[in-house]
Amino acid sequence: MSPKHLRLLTAVLLTCAIQHSLSQISPCPPCGSTPVPYPLSTSPTCNDPTYQIRCDASAGTLLFDSINNTYPITSISPSTQRLTIAPSPFLPNTCIASDLTSNGLQLNSSAPFNITSSNTIFYLNCTDSILNSPLNCTSNSLCHVFANGSESGRDCGNGPCCAFRAGGSTTAFRIRVREEGCRAYRSFVNLDYGLAVSRWPQPGVELQWVLPSETVCRGQGDCGSGSTCGPDPNSNGRVSRCFCNPGLVWDGVAGLCVEECRDPDGCGHDRTALIAGLTSGLGVALIAALIGFFVYKRHRRIKEEQQRIAREREEILNAGGGKTAKNFTGREIKKATNNFSKDRLLGVGGYGEVYKGILEDGTIVAVKCAKIGNTKGTDQVLNEVRILCQVNHKYLVRLLGCCVELEQPLLVYEFVPNGTLLDHLQGQNRGILSWDRRLSIAQATAEGLAYLHFSAVPPIYHRDVKSSNILLDEKLNGKVGDFGLSRLAHTDLSHISTCAQGTLGYLDPEYYRNYQLTDKSDVYSFGVVLLELLTSQKAIDFNRDPDDVNLAVYVKRLVDEERVMDAVDPMLKEGASALELETMKALGFLAVGCLEERRQNRPSMKEVTEEIEYIMSIVTAKSMEK
Ligand SMILES: *[C@@H]1O[C@H](CO)[C@@H](O)[C@H](O)[C@H]1NC(C)=O
Ligand SMILES: *[C@@H]1O[C@H](CO)[C@@H](O)[C@H](O)[C@H]1NC(C)=O
Ligand SMILES: *[C@@H]1O[C@H](CO)[C@@H](O)[C@H](O)[C@H]1NC(C)=O
Ligand SMILES: *[C@@H]1O[C@H](CO)[C@@H](O)[C@H](O)[C@H]1NC(C)=O
Ligand SMILES: *[C@@H]1O[C@H](CO)[C@@H](O)[C@H](O)[C@H]1NC(C)=O
Ligand SMILES: *[C@@H]1O[C@H](CO)[C@@H](O)[C@H](O)[C@H]1NC(C)=O
Repeated sequence: MSPKHLRLLTAVLLTCAIQHSLSQISPCPPCGSTPVPYPLSTSPTCNDPTYQIRCDASAGTLLFDSINNTYPITSISPSTQRLTIAPSPFLPNTCIASDLTSNGLQLNSSAPFNITSSNTIFYLNCTDSILNSPLNCTSNSLCHVFANGSESGRDCGNGPCCAFRAGGSTTAFRIRVREEGCRAYRSFVNLDYGLAVSRWPQPGVELQWVLPSETVCRGQGDCGSGSTCGPDPNSNGRVSRCFCNPGLVWDGVAGLCVEECRDPDGCGHDRTALIAGLTSGLGVALIAALIGFFVYKRHRRIKEEQQRIAREREEILNAGGGKTAKNFTGREIKKATNNFSKDRLLGVGGYGEVYKGILEDGTIVAVKCAKIGNTKGTDQVLNEVRILCQVNHKYLVRLLGCCVELEQPLLVYEFVPNGTLLDHLQGQNRGILSWDRRLSIAQATAEGLAYLHFSAVPPIYHRDVKSSNILLDEKLNGKVGDFGLSRLAHTDLSHISTCAQGTLGYLDPEYYRNYQLTDKSDVYSFGVVLLELLTSQKAIDFNRDPDDVNLAVYVKRLVDEERVMDAVDPMLKEGASALELETMKALGFLAVGCLEERRQNRPSMKEVTEEIEYIMSIVTAKSMEK
């Protein structure tokens, strides 16, 4: 054996050795039969004692102590650093929280836990003074639905109550009830607002913990061989921690120093290749057997690792409340799309290809190969998926899941069978799109977008609103689809990009000034869609006069000349009542409002939705009169 081979072999053996002596932290024993995952700690000597919880050994339940109270822990998700506690019940036959005397749930803000924004919270049995708060205490607030419709809210009557999403700076550490304000609260994790109350989940409050830093140590003896005890610069040297040795990095989820890993599908493929190369150079049976043993162990480890990652991803997906969200395997998707065969290709855009697929159970799906830049990690895709699952909504094309195994992340959507709004407006029989049908498509689309802007956390800007991205189902209901360009709305500047995004004819003119897309950019694009609905014309059409190629510019000119009705699709005007013609004019004005040059002058998507609903109410009132 050449010295070079020997060195390589030693390296292989060493890596394996390191893997085995890493456990620096003694794990906590289970509480009854309930495991205590890292970093949560039931005693000062196991896991990370900063993450203190308690164990009721007789009941086998884990307990979470707030400043003044104790709550049972009902679930723990270490991969997302979240746990759910059951809030205090009401005092029997009242609408008073049993933790009212200690002012509700108060977390110690110096401890590493906070209340997440996945919680929808209702304040109940409130005094009238609450009506001045910025919370949603209106008579149609969801808390009334709860108080009126659920068994546990039945004692809360119909007095003032309020609903809000937790997790802002004021609610990150407390849900406050008091005698002079509200006397009870209820919280639901990942509540799907569309569900009937009877199908709501059990109440719970979800908490999140900060990923732990390296283990605290007093000397090298406290650290494993993979790390070195040294002063923590963040504590001015008062605390020492087991910092990972070069080549290893701290994994706050597992609580270990692990090999640096840039490939999210598991490390070590390269080294498997190395071992294969090694074997060819060695003739000695003993060594081959030895290596075979390590290869076997390694394979098992890789396999376990892959299973762990798959499990974690499923957890991440479901943490968003996307009950149908699923992690599809590459095999499943290849099979569903007949190995991405050409005849399954539904469309190609600048932002990816869409294939029709048929899942094993017969479900027809649209598989979108998200063309996402190289910088975009799988985890980021997963995070977007999680958020899209969270906004699973009747006005949006449903995201069924994703597959991140293949080179390109794939997103699997519910298949909407009846083509796009563009197809219908430009097709032979656009006559089936009556005026009230068009209004209801506009309303559904607006509501879907308003949902993305105002109810998703963090907000999502669609960025590519256009009639070919509005899908119609068999009953010609509109659904917003294709989040190809959607990015989570960051408040920083990272979403500024220098190359034009979006589609010509729909793109916010302010984008050219500052290269930023905001919710108001979606409003602009939606204004163009409204014009398409009104005129049945294309957003860009070179058959119009050169000055009128752009539909937005064209209709704005007509509005300035007080001739807006000239733009309306003649098929709509035919046989329309005077009142209906008025509503067409009203929609035209609303569209032009959305197309204001300055963003601040455009309405929000919420306001647009309300306006369309108002216009619809006039049309329906009229048709009921007939
Ligand atoms: C609401 O709170 C007040 C004050 O604590 C209490 O007197 C009243 O009984 C509560 N209402 C119900 C329905 O329990
Ligand atoms: C804890 O409860 C006591 C009364 O039992 C109360 O005075 C104190 O304000 C409570 N602490 C917090 C943070 O609510
Ligand atoms: C809050 O947590 C800090 C640090 O963990 C601790 O020192 C303090 O005593 C706690 N305060 C209360 C009221 O529990
Ligand atoms: C309050 O919530 C209800 C139901 O979710 C919603 O319809 C209403 O628009 C909200 N009001 C405000 C002021 O946010
Ligand atoms: C309460 O629920 C009943 C049916 O369960 C419904 O008829 C009634 O309108 C609801 N009242 C309010 C104020 O929501
Ligand atoms: C809660 O803690 C998590 C984890 O550290 C953090 O990402 C999040 O911003 C915190 N939320 C609030 C509202 O402080």
